Amino acid sequence: MSLPKIFVTRQLPERGLNPLLSHAEIEIWPERQPPAYEILLEKVQQIDGLLCLLTDRIDEQLINTGKSLKVISQMAVGYDNIDIKAATNRKIPVGNTPGVLTDATADLTWALLMCAARRIIESEQYVRAGSWQTWEPTLLLGTDLSGATLGIVGLGRIGEAVARRASGFNLRVIYSSRHRRSKEIEAALGVEYVEFNRLLQESDIITLHTALSKETHHLISYAQFALMKRSAILINTARGAIVDPQALYQTLKSGQIAGAALDVTEPEPIPLDSPLLSLKNLIITPHIGSASYQTRLKMATMAANNLLAGLLNQPLPYCVNP
Ligand code: DGY
Repeated sequence: MSLPKIFVTRQLPERGLNPLLSHAEIEIWPERQPPAYEILLEKVQQIDGLLCLLTDRIDEQLINTGKSLKVISQMAVGYDNIDIKAATNRKIPVGNTPGVLTDATADLTWALLMCAARRIIESEQYVRAGSWQTWEPTLLLGTDLSGATLGIVGLGRIGEAVARRASGFNLRVIYSSRHRRSKEIEAALGVEYVEFNRLLQESDIITLHTALSKETHHLISYAQFALMKRSAILINTARGAIVDPQALYQTLKSGQIAGAALDVTEPEPIPLDSPLLSLKNLIITPHIGSASYQTRLKMATMAANNLLAGLLNQPLPYCVNP
């Protein structure tokens, strides 16, 4: 009996595909850039399983073209690149990788938060540029975390992990979320629920941890920036399109807020001629929230296990279809 065929849209961490080795005929896209949509359309006609990444557009046309497609497994927790409704209509289960990247992403959020608050990137560039002449009382001043208010937008797994990390910093932590968490969870995390607009007004640092959807697309735009403190710092390690890039540029350029740090942009990668790249009060990293050896291996293994379950007609361990 021939093995089911799967297509993996990029090289994954070594050993990540181990669960699939004896169960499928595996084709791995060998290039650094993702396969073009046309290539995906061609591949999907010949496969039973697709292991994809957030850079692949898995839309209705693609899903319907894959006549023998039984399962889609995304190596990421977010899946806004996949038309879940179209997959569900065809009874194709879609898997994702929640949980295993929570800590890595929360760590990176804190790294960016501290870099922005204490101007670490600017300081490092200052040293390398040979500008460090002496100790100066007003050189590269940032802002204290102690006593500040941290506003978490979206208290899911990653938002919670960010809140837990705040406990050593003597911060007040407020959050807004679609669903208010129980009093017990709020007390355990040391967080206080507030309405979204109040969070924008009261926070010294605002960090975004919500999924991208129609409702959260450009959730942060001109009106929301206008509510923030002039000293506010915005952190985004969730999805680029949650923040309106034009509004962010105007806001940072005019000094309407103090700074921002983004691990995600709209679009990705950010074009080199983007005006955002001219701003000194903005830090950008290339979507590396989950980029640790351990985490990426766990994500790949989990994605492989989801795919395998689908090929074997078993329920996926982590399935996102409603
Ligand atoms: C995800 O998993 O959705 C991240 O953005 C990439 O790790």
